[in-house]
Amino acid sequence: MLNQIIAAFKDTYGADPEFVVRSPGRVNLIGEHTDYNDGFVFPMGIVYDQWLAIRKNGTDRVNWYSKDVDSNDSFSISDFSEKKKSWIQFPQGVAWALKDYGYPLAGFDGYSMGTIPIGSGLSSSAALELVGCAAFSRAAGFAWDPVKMARISRIADNRWIGLNNGIMDQLISAIAEEGKAILIDCRDLHTQKFPLPDGTVIVVMNTNVKHSLIGSAYNDRHEECMRGAKAFGVDSLRDLSIERFERDADDLDPVIRKRVRHVLSENRRALEAAKAMDSDEPERLGQLMDESHESLRVDFEVSCPELDIMTEEARRQRGCYGARMTGGGFGGSAVALVKKEFAEEMMTKTAIGYERRTGKKATVFMTQACKGTSFELN
Ligand code: GLA
Repeated sequence: MLNQIIAAFKDTYGADPEFVVRSPGRVNLIGEHTDYNDGFVFPMGIVYDQWLAIRKNGTDRVNWYSKDVDSNDSFSISDFSEKKKSWIQFPQGVAWALKDYGYPLAGFDGYSMGTIPIGSGLSSSAALELVGCAAFSRAAGFAWDPVKMARISRIADNRWIGLNNGIMDQLISAIAEEGKAILIDCRDLHTQKFPLPDGTVIVVMNTNVKHSLIGSAYNDRHEECMRGAKAFGVDSLRDLSIERFERDADDLDPVIRKRVRHVLSENRRALEAAKAMDSDEPERLGQLMDESHESLRVDFEVSCPELDIMTEEARRQRGCYGARMTGGGFGGSAVALVKKEFAEEMMTKTAIGYERRTGKKATVFMTQACKGTSFELN
């Protein structure tokens, strides 16, 4: 990809790029809709990533060609009154957030290309934000700090884009590690790294039902969780014990009760998943993934028929330990833990079963855990 993007940049702008940065998409193994409740998530970087080549242009504009959507767009870094609506709103949002937090900015010409399917729930927008941050750090000359840049990207999402998400996607895109899934405590961003159980692989299954979190029920779920925390007089659901919830749950609005029950049980499952990883118990990990899907389907209501069918088909296959939807939901992708020797067969049969029952094509792929944001030409 490096040589390809350098050549494409040169073709477009007539000069060599000065820097090339990349950032991966992600898959979350377990711990869903817990990050904005200060809870636990367990994601890893995937083989699909976003690349960006840049050259400082000495102006106050960022000009950006995205090969993925075959479109050119630009924004000013001195005047943020024009809010972009296209894909460039993500880098524009990080520029706005960086400026708000006192970082210097510099204009550049950029060319991006990548492999993360858009709307697949694999965090293509977080990767776009992170390459944006990395580009500004090089163009304007400030030090790269992956955790701070993940926070900046989340601020862009929350305050510029208007999506009240947590920090999982941005943080894992920034800090992902080769060969490891990372348990993140979203309260203090403490991390613990775990290799996958011996002899297993991660399979990602895209339903090809496009999910767009912006303007979706995602913000409603966020709101419902905040109402749940308020009802118990705690700052976040992380501060609510299962015992107290069970004692007082009857007094809650039934919808809020279900949402809170999901978050509390999912936090527990994420921690148990870490134990299962640590003691190399793929069966247990798979069981927790299945339970997570059920909780997301019934209590949190963020699945959809295609995700349910995909996970059912996955579980029917030989060598599949467990499967669940991954990411925000309402479409997008599912993830399964699979015995390596059966992975090819499992992938083919799952895709066939999915297509037979939905009439839709699935995109199924295997992934290792890949590294986070990197500077490929510095
Ligand atoms: C989306 C959000 C994340 C997280 C997941 C659900 O991916 O961007 O912050 O809330 O949904 O776990």
